[in-house]
Amino acid sequence: MATENQHTPLSSPHFSGNEIGFIQAAIAAGEIATNGRFIRQFEQELERKFDSPHVIALNSGTSAIHLALHLLGVGSGDEVICQSFTFVASCNPIRYLGGVPIFVDSEEQTWNMCPDRLEETIRKRLAQGKKPKVILAVNLFGMPANWPRICHIGKKYDIPVLEDAAESLGSTIDGQFAGTFGDLGVFSFNGNKIITTGSGGALLTKNRFLEKKSRYLATQAKLNVPHYEHNELGYNYKMTNLAAGIGLAQLQVIADRIRKRRQIFAEYRRLLQGIPGLQFLEEPPGYFSNRWLTTLLIQPEQAGFDAVELRNSLLLEGIESRFLWKPMHLQPLYRDAGYLGGGVAENLFRTGLCLPSSSLLETPELERIVEVVARLHAGTLYTTGKTV
Ligand SMILES: Cc1ncc(COP(=O)(O)O)c(C=O)c1O
Repeated sequence: MATENQHTPLSSPHFSGNEIGFIQAAIAAGEIATNGRFIRQFEQELERKFDSPHVIALNSGTSAIHLALHLLGVGSGDEVICQSFTFVASCNPIRYLGGVPIFVDSEEQTWNMCPDRLEETIRKRLAQGKKPKVILAVNLFGMPANWPRICHIGKKYDIPVLEDAAESLGSTIDGQFAGTFGDLGVFSFNGNKIITTGSGGALLTKNRFLEKKSRYLATQAKLNVPHYEHNELGYNYKMTNLAAGIGLAQLQVIADRIRKRRQIFAEYRRLLQGIPGLQFLEEPPGYFSNRWLTTLLIQPEQAGFDAVELRNSLLLEGIESRFLWKPMHLQPLYRDAGYLGGGVAENLFRTGLCLPSSSLLETPELERIVEVVARLHAGTLYTTGKTV
């Protein structure tokens, strides 16, 4: 059983030690709000490290998705094709704009948008006289989607592509960074991500016009005149200088953080390889995942336990784990939305679990987690099948 203070979180913020210095400098300069030198510095560092021509720092990944859909012209009644297996923040902004999400299933290989289902959906909608406005795919748990095919389909049907790279900072396909595949890309720096600014996000684009327009929209669409003049609807979405300072300190250690998360994945895989019925998300050739979260699929007949039982057993030991995303087409909120797919997303939700993957996770803690799995498999651990 867990001792009183034992708590192993899923993914916690990991400071570099330089955050305080940046925060103090921002306060000393009186620059704590949405103006200040760290904001542009943070953007430039992101541009340089992740090969993106233009990065706009914002106050969350959700704001970035909202802004991106706005920039791509999504309005009332416009259809956006989105992968069903994702966090709700990917698709809620479609609704903010009065748009209509159409969900598609995932592929087995990456767990992200299935290119075949995507193309089938586009064809069906075109046959019914309606052209989808945007394709929105996601890189879940750090694993990039099949961007070569998704972007090819986008070009073929002349539909812009939005890349939700919230979970995949530093991931690549053939050396190209996540966030730079689509017409627009999005990062998140919220507290559980690989690096954090507390709450924060960024928009990535190759297009100078979209960069300018997004800065304008993120600042209440204020025109560049001496008084306050507005002729369209804008948002208060800019990142603060305080947050950007934290982000700069975090970016200094991004390579170490990715290395550690990948090590954690490799250790889980190595230590759990003897237990039947467990499956890890492997990198297809040419893919590099930041391994934000290590995820496991469990076949109960072979493993002797299921995802619910494992989660409960871990919880009793003070260890946090999390089910994989519940697909959007199964959410009451999106009951009326269209869906095209088989059962891939549903199976991932039913059989999957995210294991603690914080870059602060020490080897003894990881071994303790593995021991819970091993004891559950051996039948020497009391467990309950009810979600607690
Ligand atoms: C896939 C995905 N999209 C979007 C978001 C939204 O980012 P934020 O929490 O910064 O608004 C997140 C993270 O929270 C996410 O995991």
